[in-house]
Amino acid sequence: MSSKTFQFKVLATDGAARRGEITMPRGTVRTPAFMPVGTGGTVKAMYMDQVRDLGSDIILGNTYHLMLRPGAERVARLGGLHDFARWPGPILTDSGGFQVMSLAQLRKLDENGVTFRSHIDGRSYEMSPERSIEIQGLLDSDIQMQLDECVALPAQEREMERAMELSLRWAERGKAAFGDQPGKAMFGIVQGGDNARLRERSAQALKAMELKGYSIGGLAVGEPQNIMLDMLEVVCPILPAEKPRYLMGVGTPDDILKSVARGIDMFDCVMPTRAGRHGLAFTRHGKINLRNARHAEDPRPLDEESNCPAARDYSRAYLHHLVKSGEFLGAMLLTWNNLAYYQSLMQGCRDAIEAEKFVDFSGVTQERWARGDL
Ligand code: GUN
Repeated sequence: MSSKTFQFKVLATDGAARRGEITMPRGTVRTPAFMPVGTGGTVKAMYMDQVRDLGSDIILGNTYHLMLRPGAERVARLGGLHDFARWPGPILTDSGGFQVMSLAQLRKLDENGVTFRSHIDGRSYEMSPERSIEIQGLLDSDIQMQLDECVALPAQEREMERAMELSLRWAERGKAAFGDQPGKAMFGIVQGGDNARLRERSAQALKAMELKGYSIGGLAVGEPQNIMLDMLEVVCPILPAEKPRYLMGVGTPDDILKSVARGIDMFDCVMPTRAGRHGLAFTRHGKINLRNARHAEDPRPLDEESNCPAARDYSRAYLHHLVKSGEFLGAMLLTWNNLAYYQSLMQGCRDAIEAEKFVDFSGVTQERWARGDL
């Protein structure tokens, strides 16, 4: 199902957890949703058909990477990111600020935006809140993010406050640049570090802007999990119930369960894909590091009950061999397994919320990880 306009509906709730649906012209996103990270127009080591068949309704792309290579104007001339990457469904793009801060060289930030040098060839670029939205438009992104500034934690309160207030001014500018596009959305990003007062101020001010959705940024950046969860408990009740909430860059399966319980609808994280390329498998019974020599002669698959071939049909001994040999197939199979696990976790969340059994589902899932019956 698709809709000519961007719409969000909460279909069921269980405590603070929500089961919903975002409909837009390119398709429907079932929430709680996990969005695989397709930074530079590819979910690394995966075919798009596989990504979709695992139950991904939407993928993420990065303004920062795509503006540097192959360039936003070039993607636009080639028909937009969906055609270019052969992903016809919805795409969400991050705005670039966060990646500039973590990847670019010689960055300078002021009221008007960020100036930086590319980590690829050292060329100089400028990005304002308006240019970020322009680039996301050239990519033809369905859900766009405002440009924001995220500070690493721990940080001084006045530093967190400055970045949060700057991000609010950039949200207003992003909103004006985005204008009226009924089939698409621009989300504002709640900042404020680990400070409840600042988070509250940010969430209230963004709510007043009446945006189509709200992201929560600046978390999982070095703080303990309980701080992140405390911030969600401050922010989620302020945000309007009828708009989607996206927790950026999160997280582990455990982070996801605990954040869904607090009212988060959307997630993205490099964890399943990046960990897969480094030999780590996520399973119902916990994590398995395939580099470890104890798997060298283990004939068992990762999970004989999974319906993902990567989990069900290949021995741990073979996966260990592939990982130790640095074979591409090792990265491909473990990424496939990990995204399959993440998407089955999200399906489990959605089913449990509909059945009003989210607490039970979460408890059983966590006990199975804790038993570590590998
Ligand atoms: N990805 C993870 N955290 C953040 C954040 O705070 N801002 C942006 N733009 N992207 C993120």
